[in-house]
Amino acid sequence: MSKNFYITTPIYYPSGKPHMGHAYSSIVADVFARFKRIEGYEVLFLTGTDEHGQKIQKEAQKNKKDPKQFCDELSDKFLSLTKSLCLSNDDFIRTTENRHLKSVQEIWNRLVKSGDIYLDKYSGWYSVSDEAFYDKDEIEEIDGKKFSKISGSPVEWVEEESYFFKLSAWSNKLLEFYKKNNNFILPVSRKNEVVSFVQKGLKDLSISRTSFSWGIPVPNNNKHVIYVWLDALTNYLSALNFPNIEDKKYKAFWPADVHIIGKDILRFHAIYWPAFLIAANLPLPKRVFGHGWILSDDKKMSKSLGNILDPIEIIKDYGIDQLRYYLIKEVSLGNDGSISMENLKNCINNDLANNYGNLCQRVFSFIKKNCNNKIPKKNRLNKSDIRLIGNIKDNLAKLIDYINNQNLNEYIKMVVNFSFEANKYFNDSEPWSLKKKDPERMNAILYTISEQIKNISILLNPIIPISTKKVLDTINLSDKDVSIDSIKKDEIFDYNLELKNLDILFKKIENDN
Ligand code: MSP
Repeated sequence: MSKNFYITTPIYYPSGKPHMGHAYSSIVADVFARFKRIEGYEVLFLTGTDEHGQKIQKEAQKNKKDPKQFCDELSDKFLSLTKSLCLSNDDFIRTTENRHLKSVQEIWNRLVKSGDIYLDKYSGWYSVSDEAFYDKDEIEEIDGKKFSKISGSPVEWVEEESYFFKLSAWSNKLLEFYKKNNNFILPVSRKNEVVSFVQKGLKDLSISRTSFSWGIPVPNNNKHVIYVWLDALTNYLSALNFPNIEDKKYKAFWPADVHIIGKDILRFHAIYWPAFLIAANLPLPKRVFGHGWILSDDKKMSKSLGNILDPIEIIKDYGIDQLRYYLIKEVSLGNDGSISMENLKNCINNDLANNYGNLCQRVFSFIKKNCNNKIPKKNRLNKSDIRLIGNIKDNLAKLIDYINNQNLNEYIKMVVNFSFEANKYFNDSEPWSLKKKDPERMNAILYTISEQIKNISILLNPIIPISTKKVLDTINLSDKDVSIDSIKKDEIFDYNLELKNLDILFKKIENDN
């Protein structure tokens, strides 16, 4: 079985500064990437920016900037967001790079060669902000203006010469593919939406534009630029050095294991992308996972409502692990989820400060005071000790399964529960009352709870990498031992080493009222 894992985020339009929705897609993908790494996989985690098209060209014009210069500045903000979010991405692709241009033109040429492209004229509705074509029945009129019923964004009438991709020819092949690959589109509700859309029959897709120039030129006809979605989707291949299909990266990582995307861009990833790939005679990704929307106080974030949450501000005020934890714990992946500062504070206090943080702090300070600051050796564990430790080991396969099915909510629920149990065990066992009476028993308890802290920290590491790293450093666990395998092993502690100091992990947030 291949131990390689390729995961991607959407590449973001650098048309404005990053917001919480972008941060969410990236954090979710990062959690999976980090988990697969500690599970022992060679992971390639890709993110980047989607820089061509009319939307970017217009935005650059508005800002009186040359589009490339405009993209350089904004792409930089997305790059720096990867650092602020503590992403473990291995690469950051920009669609204005040369490696990408080569790859898109090769896809184009393959589609020409397979007979899937023809020249005609497009007339219909186009949304610049979605960079999407819409059918008549997908349009509604409000106050004399036309909007997409699907996204709510304004549309304009477009009539121009255009190359078309014979998407209509691939409906049946796509339906067959969805049937054979039941988990290609997740969650299931989204899969059903896609299947019924394709069942209605697909129209050919316009894949070039002539009314602006900010894009990759169509080979042999530079009056046209390639449609930005055909351009953008190909980024997933460009990062693997496609078109060189003999390249090490391509061979190791294509097809991708999962594209993490928001539900609004499902049509592009679950219909257009596989159709392009089938026509280009390339293998299809294994999964497309469409997450829901982050709502701000129950409403869609929008400039006009003034409720756009800026991840950078929140990180400054509360910390990155806190934000990551909150988004993963409180938003049910796959559904829309409302977030609020009030809930964020409660989550930090209840789960992080009072539960996991408190557990680590009190256990380590107890060991410092009572055991010369060293974890006691494993000795004479009783049934309750063995049960506590066994519970994580017995559930490992389940946890891995949760991750492999993008069931992050069940995963985190279970891990948080281990942490509650560990706190309860520590309270109930009262090691402080045993120092004189039964030091051997006290040591067994301290060994057990340290083992639990190690295992819980490893399991939480993909979600809160900074704080768990501090905890694992405190018990002198080396980076290579931050792995799922280490959960299976007892006694990987170096008993000769003293615990390092652990500062407060999560400050409690005072409520304003
Ligand atoms: N450039 C395209 C993607 C091309 S991928 C080949 C794009 N960019 S985007 O910047 O508009 O959005 C990127 C991602 O952010 C999408 O997955 C979108 O769903 C996500 N989000 C944007 N706003 C969001 C929320 N409010 N909530 C959650 N995610 C949303 O689309």
